[in-house]
Amino acid sequence: MKILVTGGAGYIGSVLTEELVRDGHEVVVYDNLSKGHRSAIAPAASFVHAELADVSTLRNTLSNNGIEAVIHMAADSLVGESGVDPAKYYENNLVNGLTLLAAMKAAGVNRIVFSSTAATYGQPEQQPIEETAPTKPTNPYGETKLAFERAMRWYTEAYGLRYASLRYFNAAGASENFGEHHDPESHLIPIALQAAAGSREAVEVYGDDYPTPDGTCVRDYIHVIDLARAHILALSVLDEGSRIYNLGCGGDGYSVNQVLETARQVTGKEIPARVGPRRAGDPATLIAASDKIKSELGWKPEFQDLRLIIESAWRWMQKHPNGYSGQEPL
Ligand SMILES: NC(=O)c1ccc[n+]([C@@H]2O[C@H](COP(=O)([O-])OP(=O)(O)OC[C@H]3O[C@@H](n4cnc5c(N)ncnc54)[C@H](O)[C@@H]3O)[C@@H](O)[C@H]2O)c1
Repeated sequence: MKILVTGGAGYIGSVLTEELVRDGHEVVVYDNLSKGHRSAIAPAASFVHAELADVSTLRNTLSNNGIEAVIHMAADSLVGESGVDPAKYYENNLVNGLTLLAAMKAAGVNRIVFSSTAATYGQPEQQPIEETAPTKPTNPYGETKLAFERAMRWYTEAYGLRYASLRYFNAAGASENFGEHHDPESHLIPIALQAAAGSREAVEVYGDDYPTPDGTCVRDYIHVIDLARAHILALSVLDEGSRIYNLGCGGDGYSVNQVLETARQVTGKEIPARVGPRRAGDPATLIAASDKIKSELGWKPEFQDLRLIIESAWRWMQKHPNGYSGQEPL
């Protein structure tokens, strides 16, 4: 299939593009490189360096490449920043998303897989979280992702759009070639590994008085390759109808302290940690029920063990101590 991946130069997009190309798809990456990296794009993919808001480039890219489906990953995704600057999030995650849907409609492209998030649920009362749980986002990031999901639902009814919205929990790990390089980094595993590598002094633990087994927050980590494979499965059934799936590994999840301890074991390094105050709006536990995608699409995570996830991230970080900085495209 000919697929446009918006945000394909970002962390998850880089691994997804690699997997799509490996499966024989023709991929066009569309990214403004605001957060992504040129050298994170698999060499077999074409690259359009452009902004989602640039309607004519978007339309031409869809038409000139005969695009059959879009995987929409481009977004701003810092929860804290979204509270300080909601306009940025409405603009990029919602307005630019609608621009993409309009361009797709004009170009006759009606299939889309969307990167949604556990943040659409807010602070759910029940764990693990099922797709039917109430959606009550507690920040503009989650709110704008949910607003786009809702738009896709109405576009499905009125214009025959076919969408899969994948609500990711915590993406982590790396492939052999592509890994996580954000600036600033906000995700626990790369932060812990930066501390192990000596490029960060200590890891800040946001509260240790939560109602969890060790008092630190519990999250559900999913390997970025398992996440990528789920997109490819979702693409294959789009014509059968629109759908929403959670994507996490489920189980009991892992606490912040468990992640730090596993990172110490994997790296054999000290990882100093400092307990600070809670962050506003951080739920104690977020664990996905992913049974729906498992039973409907046969998705099966290969790297459920946190140790495997952290080992892969550590391998990539050791090969790329400065991330993508200064690295030529492959
Ligand atoms: N990383 C996670 O754990 C996680 C969890 C839930 C949801 N998500 C969602 O998954 C998607 C990918 O996440 P990621 O961690 O790879 O993020 P990322 O920031 O690494 O990648 C996003 C990419 O989109 C590009 N981009 C942003 N705005 C753009 C625009 N207006 N025009 C063109 N390109 C633009 C950036 O340059 C970047 O390459 C995002 O939509 C995010 O909200 C991520």
